[in-house]
Amino acid sequence: MAPRKIIIDTDPGQDDAVAILLALASPEEIQVLGITAVAGNVPLRLTARNARMVCELAGRTDVPVYAGCDRPLGRELVTAEHVHGKTGLDGPDLPEPTMPLQETHAVDFIIDSLRREAPGTVTLCPLGPLTNIAMAFEKAPDIMARVAEIVLMGGAYFEVGNITPAAEFNIYVDPQAAHIVFKSGCKITVMPLDVTHKALVTTPRNDAFRALGTPVGIAVAEMTDFFERFDKEKYGSAGAPLHDPCVTAYLIRPDLFTGRFINVEIETHSELTMGMTVADWWRVSGRAPNATFMGDVDADGFFALLTERLARL
Ligand code: BDR
Ligand code: CA
Repeated sequence: MAPRKIIIDTDPGQDDAVAILLALASPEEIQVLGITAVAGNVPLRLTARNARMVCELAGRTDVPVYAGCDRPLGRELVTAEHVHGKTGLDGPDLPEPTMPLQETHAVDFIIDSLRREAPGTVTLCPLGPLTNIAMAFEKAPDIMARVAEIVLMGGAYFEVGNITPAAEFNIYVDPQAAHIVFKSGCKITVMPLDVTHKALVTTPRNDAFRALGTPVGIAVAEMTDFFERFDKEKYGSAGAPLHDPCVTAYLIRPDLFTGRFINVEIETHSELTMGMTVADWWRVSGRAPNATFMGDVDADGFFALLTERLARL
């Protein structure tokens, strides 16, 4: 089967970096048309820089990287340096990127790609706030019908929130954008905290990355060394949750994940619960399903896949 064409929309972020590396290590299943950066974990200047650093780490300077929106649609930007460090990619000592940033705006790249490629052949993989995707849908509504699928990391039901008591970071940062995406009618698959909090980098799993002995394996181990301190302290968990790699792992091994096709609405009014993903897991609302909301992952299978693929870079 031909590899799936994808656009990775991202705010790297150590876990975004691992998600990108997994995609770039899997050319039989995934063809990365481009990487679009968005403001999120850190400001856009840094996410656009970090995305290129990750491509260079993978030896893939041929992958075009575009800068997109530098702030959410209708709110001030909220960032997460407290989790990811000052640069967003704290941990390993990686060189500044030398590959150029593309001149085209990320939103235009998303629109042009969906119009150029055959309908139903491009999958969007958002790993950060949904600002770029929503802007593209607002600017060019014709592209929504051409999207094959949106596989995104965001939201939570059982785990509720990580940036506020009610909301997950990616959705909280730009709830209006999330609302536009969840109303788009596109096929949507969601990796919420309910799944990603089960994909924990325990010490033996991180040792396995380090034991690869390659620049990629060592950098990934150092990224999770840094990133885990926050969640270990906050949740008392066994290691860092690899949120975003669940998206790219799903493209390769969907059988590792289970979930439900349900209705998901985004809270955009109440300040108290802003950005909450109101997921009708128990199917009590009578509202039409609009997303496959994942609930579980085979974590051992996920880490076996990740380690095996990172070894290829
Ligand atoms: C999400 O927020 C970011 O901090 C991570 O990169 C991930 O995309 C988890 O809530
Ligand atoms: Ca992210």
